[in-house]
Amino acid sequence: MDQPLRVAVTGAAGQIGYQLVFRIAAGEMLGRERSLQLNLLEIPPAMDALNGVVMELDDCAFPLVKGIVPTDSPETAFANVDIAILVGSRPRSPGMERRDLLEANGEIFTIQGKALNDCAARDVKVLVVGNPANTNCLIALRSAPDLSPTQFCAMTRLDHNRALAQLAHKTACHVSEIKGLAVWGNHSPTMFPELGSTTVAGKSALSLVDMDWYGNEFIPAVQQRGAAILQARGFSSAASAANAAIEQVRDWHLGTELVTSMGVYSTGNYGISEEIVFSYPVTCDADGVHIVENRVLDQFSREKIAITEQELVDERDAIKHLI
Ligand code: NAD
Ligand code: LMR
Repeated sequence: MDQPLRVAVTGAAGQIGYQLVFRIAAGEMLGRERSLQLNLLEIPPAMDALNGVVMELDDCAFPLVKGIVPTDSPETAFANVDIAILVGSRPRSPGMERRDLLEANGEIFTIQGKALNDCAARDVKVLVVGNPANTNCLIALRSAPDLSPTQFCAMTRLDHNRALAQLAHKTACHVSEIKGLAVWGNHSPTMFPELGSTTVAGKSALSLVDMDWYGNEFIPAVQQRGAAILQARGFSSAASAANAAIEQVRDWHLGTELVTSMGVYSTGNYGISEEIVFSYPVTCDADGVHIVENRVLDQFSREKIAITEQELVDERDAIKHLI
């Protein structure tokens, strides 16, 4: 059998962590043939809870798991890791926006970016989930100058999946019949779920829905879905977030069949500002993540994209001291 892949999960005793680590251990992320070692990072007050998670992992007797390392040291957690999923951070409370977390969470990603730089495998792939995910990802990659920015991405797969579900309900089709959908920009209320290049069972999505639904129902529903779940549950999304993290890493590691959405470091594609982490339509293969080129964007789309781009530029300006 191959060497076990080393996978680090931060915040492993939190809500998302508890939904995530068992599915990774079962082989849902890297394949049911791939053995792995789980390095689980928490902060000292959460180590008792983390040890409980480790006891439960042990009790599953997962055949693929070759080792589990619970720790409160980022250097230990990231030692030689192939994949790091950075979840650990504060979630928002009702009434907050995700960007309100920048002050509380930004520093975490400086420390963890440095530790990844110093300790992780040189080809590590890093997914940032903790909010605000795009700008935390920017902080982490800037704190890791020996790694390439292409080794970091922010999670917008949950938004992508939410958009698929909303469109499937509206058109009475199955999510598997939808192709080409993409979420642009920030994981925030300005994100732009775009349907201009989307097909549903081979037909243009925009021929099946009207502009009123697209602009006034679909886009706001996707943008505000996180807040709606927080309002309904009293806690932010966890199982769906863990599922999205698994799907985003799986596609990155094993390759995509369809276009998906990922927050990646911008080098100016589609005229977007450089040096922000921006969600684009992408595909993945053994050479990495590829931004889908030459999408036709109408005036409506360009205006929506400009709004979310500006928000990311503003977030970057607000954390200049951390990068
Ligand atoms: P949670 O509070 O249940 O769990 C967070 C865990 O992180 C806690 O156990 C905490 O002890 C730990 N933690 C805090 N600081 C840490 C650090 N420096 N190192 C390691 N661990 C640390 O929160 P949650 O519901 O699991 O959410 C985690 C984050 O994910 C939040 O920021 C939330 O907003 C974000 N989130 C993002 C998306 C997305 O789509 N990008 C979706 C859902 C949630
Ligand atoms: C989500 O989109 O569900 C997460 O970002 C959590 C939140 O605060 O909305």
